[in-house]
Amino acid sequence: MSDHTAPLVLEARGLAKCYGHVTALDGTDFEVRAGEIMAVIGDNGAGKSSLIKALSGALIPDGGEIWLDGARVHFTGPSDARRAGIETVYQDLALAPAMSITENLFLGREHRRPGIAGSLLRVLDRKRMEREAAEHLQQLGIGIRSITQAVETLSGGQRQGIAVARSAAFARHVVILDEPTAALGVKESGMVLDLITRVRDRGLSVILISHNMPHVFALADRIHIQRLGRRAALVNSRDIAMADAVAVMTGAVEWPASLQTNAV
Ligand SMILES: Nc1ncnc2c1ncn2[C@@H]1O[C@H](COP(=O)(O)OP(=O)(O)O)[C@@H](O)[C@H]1O
Ligand SMILES: [Mg+2]
Repeated sequence: MSDHTAPLVLEARGLAKCYGHVTALDGTDFEVRAGEIMAVIGDNGAGKSSLIKALSGALIPDGGEIWLDGARVHFTGPSDARRAGIETVYQDLALAPAMSITENLFLGREHRRPGIAGSLLRVLDRKRMEREAAEHLQQLGIGIRSITQAVETLSGGQRQGIAVARSAAFARHVVILDEPTAALGVKESGMVLDLITRVRDRGLSVILISHNMPHVFALADRIHIQRLGRRAALVNSRDIAMADAVAVMTGAVEWPASLQTNAV
């Protein structure tokens, strides 16, 4: 459950981004606290993707500030954000289908053998990676028959699970998930929702972009409602009805400041 006294982990103030004469981010604020699931909802074009890209280093904002763990950060690319402990799972998942689950989990971050074999000859420590992969998936409750099987043999839900597990393995602060259940059926979505809860329960903060209101309300501690490039409301998910959240999203209703959760 959300704890509003938990420390702010990632915070943005007044983020701005224009593409030519299109304003994608119009001075948006954002925050996520330690160990909470923050959903980001909004109509098409509201600036959700731009916001998430700014937070994950994939976009350099024209203005505004980003703070991580109490310090100002300036990401010049996704690898900056990853090094700072922010992992992002985009909709394309960025998995290598022909490679094994273990290889995918450690893609670009492989363990080398100890000693000269690893440092000089760059020999991979496969045993260690397989052991750690199996442990990690088991801890997250991802049931996979064999970690040596190719990712292309997995179902959509299992692939999503591997992508989320990889981000959870390397994130120190925040995991950002872009529409993680969009391509999945009911049963597989349920599996991924459970997984996201377990990632949060490990102490990570989760940012969940989703169009699926039942999923948002089942999972999120708080909801950031993005509209016209700004945060239109920041609410506790248990303090707002689904219909009201949608009304704020579309601009039919303005949510009173007194009912928002970022008031100090
Ligand atoms: N690379 C881009 N070039 C031009 N316009 C863009 C680009 N990315 C986003 N936009 C525009 O910025 C606005 C916000 O887009 P986006 O952040 O993708 O919103 P959302 O994810 O909520 O649909 C939209 O009007 C969109 O067309
Ligand atoms: Mg988008």
